[in-house]
Amino acid sequence: MTARVIDGKAVAADVRARIAEVVGKRERKPGLATVLVGEDPASHVYVGSKRKACAEAGIRSIHHEVPATISQGELNDLVRGLNADPEVDGILVQLPLPEGLDPDPVLAEISPRKDVDGLTAANAGLLAQGRIGLAEALELEPSEPPLGLIPCTPAGCVELLARVGAELEGAEAVIVGRSNLVGRPLGSLLLGANATVTTCHSRTRDLPAVCRRADILIAAVGVPKLIEADWVKPGATVIDVGMNRTDEGLVGDVDYAAVAQVAGAITPVPGGVGPMTIAMLLANTVRTSVAPASAP
Ligand code: GUN
Repeated sequence: MTARVIDGKAVAADVRARIAEVVGKRERKPGLATVLVGEDPASHVYVGSKRKACAEAGIRSIHHEVPATISQGELNDLVRGLNADPEVDGILVQLPLPEGLDPDPVLAEISPRKDVDGLTAANAGLLAQGRIGLAEALELEPSEPPLGLIPCTPAGCVELLARVGAELEGAEAVIVGRSNLVGRPLGSLLLGANATVTTCHSRTRDLPAVCRRADILIAAVGVPKLIEADWVKPGATVIDVGMNRTDEGLVGDVDYAAVAQVAGAITPVPGGVGPMTIAMLLANTVRTSVAPASAP
């Protein structure tokens, strides 16, 4: 069997077209502030892609590039200033931060209403309690300020699953990775969709055996080609969040060529989850702009 390839680029283009249509009708265009600290080349590429996507959707981009030598206090102050700026609807601080800077106090500064990454304790808490879910992620024009914002990559993964018609209710979903950016929020989203969720990590015993149980297998761990063909149940849907720069180029956390012979459907790298992360970032930015921009 050869797996169906899940075309994240096409789904993302569709979502972005809807966003551009909504933004086109708005007199006041949403504004996204991006904060890029230091010289990490991958982060520069990612933020560049995000800003380009904003421009294409009619979203204003307010960009702050600061040196890795910025102090923790100065970075916190920068975010506080963006909270108070009525021109700024959404705030994204690109991670990881350079060594010596702690992301937690920086993220804690972001107003939950402007938290397009869904990383503040308020938004993460709402998701963990099942008070927000995928239904909200693509509600671009809520009638009142949105209750919460969902992290972009997990929202993109679940939207891809929906688009390929993956049955989540009662399914065994196995997530490899427990980061705040992907693994943990994704577990909450899948639980909200009534999947039976197992989250694996570096201490999980017999990881291949746990992965083999999965109807839906999601790899978000940052280890090139970790997931091998005999870890995958025949017919499973495999979502690869990994973006690993190696000597052979950009590869995911899944051994794509081998796993595609076993899985029922699979996302490629690149062209799978990556474009969806950006599309969901734009969706979150449009959602934040419904709230009064100066609201706390
Ligand atoms: N670094 C890698 N992915 C992301 C993301 O989705 N948001 C932020 N802020 N940083 C990232």
